Amino acid sequence: MDRIRIVGGRPLNGNLRISGAKNATLQLMIASLLTDETLILDHVPRLADVALLQRILGNHGVDIMVGGKRPGETADDGQTLHISAARIVDTTAPYELVSKMRASFWVLAPLVARMGEARVSMPGGCAIGIRPVDLLIMAIERLGAKVEIEGGYVVARAPHGLKGGEIVFPKVTVGGTHTAIMAAALADGTTVIDNAAREPEIKDVADCLNKMGARITGAGTKRIVIEGVAKLHGARHAVLPDRIETGTYAMAVAMAGGEILLQNARPELLQAALDVLTRAGATVTATNEGIRVARNGSGLAPVDVTTAPFPEFPTDLQAQLMALKTRASGTSHITETIFENRFMHVQELARLGARIQLEGERATIEGVPQLKGAPVMATDLRASVSLVIAALAAEGETIVNRVYHLDRGFERLEEKLGRCGAAIERLSG
Ligand code: UD1
Repeated sequence: MDRIRIVGGRPLNGNLRISGAKNATLQLMIASLLTDETLILDHVPRLADVALLQRILGNHGVDIMVGGKRPGETADDGQTLHISAARIVDTTAPYELVSKMRASFWVLAPLVARMGEARVSMPGGCAIGIRPVDLLIMAIERLGAKVEIEGGYVVARAPHGLKGGEIVFPKVTVGGTHTAIMAAALADGTTVIDNAAREPEIKDVADCLNKMGARITGAGTKRIVIEGVAKLHGARHAVLPDRIETGTYAMAVAMAGGEILLQNARPELLQAALDVLTRAGATVTATNEGIRVARNGSGLAPVDVTTAPFPEFPTDLQAQLMALKTRASGTSHITETIFENRFMHVQELARLGARIQLEGERATIEGVPQLKGAPVMATDLRASVSLVIAALAAEGETIVNRVYHLDRGFERLEEKLGRCGAAIERLSG
């Protein structure tokens, strides 16, 4: 199993290119199931989750071709996928595959919308809490699917197609909103989604679906209206930049010091997080090329933050912010409102000398003048990158074990940080 070795204490300087967003890519790939024509996606990040979804879609009969390099292109531009679901040969997503990546459950909606049936394994336990799928099921039931749970599988049937309807989410859910949009795209009639998630990845997927011939308005707001169409066609779409990767590297600079231009990053995708960083003592400037983040020698201020759905501070940056707060000159509080049990990084940060107390969904972080390197273990995707951030400023050597969590969501992390001056290397095997 690969590990990452970091020797802390070096500032970060230079340019760092932000990849395409993982959470948009996965949904865009799944959207390919809605058409028998080819969907071409540009700026697809090279991530373990993307490779796994390629396998999962392959099991349904989807062909995926990786496009060759074009003139002037570098590894930083991501890859181009040509995805063709001309013939869906299997409408079952088996436990062996779905249990490896929860997001693959989302094939449910496009399969039932196009094929009239889908059999998808319940995702099962997850390291960051219960993460139920009741609202995803509710959404397709509202559009006329009959849903049963059989032997651990969600079996959805709509032999005569789905019908437009009203879906009111009692809680904001990203997966639920994606599911509702994809199901409604091919339904007969109009669907209205209320209390929809407003995450930028929702709008990105809706933009792509509209290029494919869907009629979706209001994506990015709380109310989305979809006029169903009989058929969708092929299209070409470039994945939007990853706001979580952007925020992560911005926090890394705030932690380690130095100045970095996050190329391709878009400030409007993470304004709440950039505001928090500014309050914490970083200098954040939007430029034509991206976002410039710097921290001078004046130290880090404590801040209080509560995670909430977009446009507020994202839960996917909570662990990274906590790492940053371990070195603030005072006490910070972080309240996690989206997922229970999303504090697994706390114990590992403590191994580096952080002082954090947990009380239910609230963490109290008392800043310390210096962290010290140690062996630590990555527990989930965002938690593991928080350990990298802490290690960049810790005295001495940190070894992060189980880095396969990082590879799920961060493209060539050690290369990107290494180019900016971090002492970081991957130890293989
Ligand atoms: C997506 C993101 C994840 C991010 C999360 C919140 C992807 C691949 N993942 O996850 O990185 O942390 O949004 O921004 O895009 N819930 C229910 N019933 C349901 C579905 C969700 O109660 O049927 C609850 C969840 O337990 C959670 C809340 O709703 O408390 C939000 O979850 P949701 O927005 O659905 O997260 P995901 O779409 O799974």
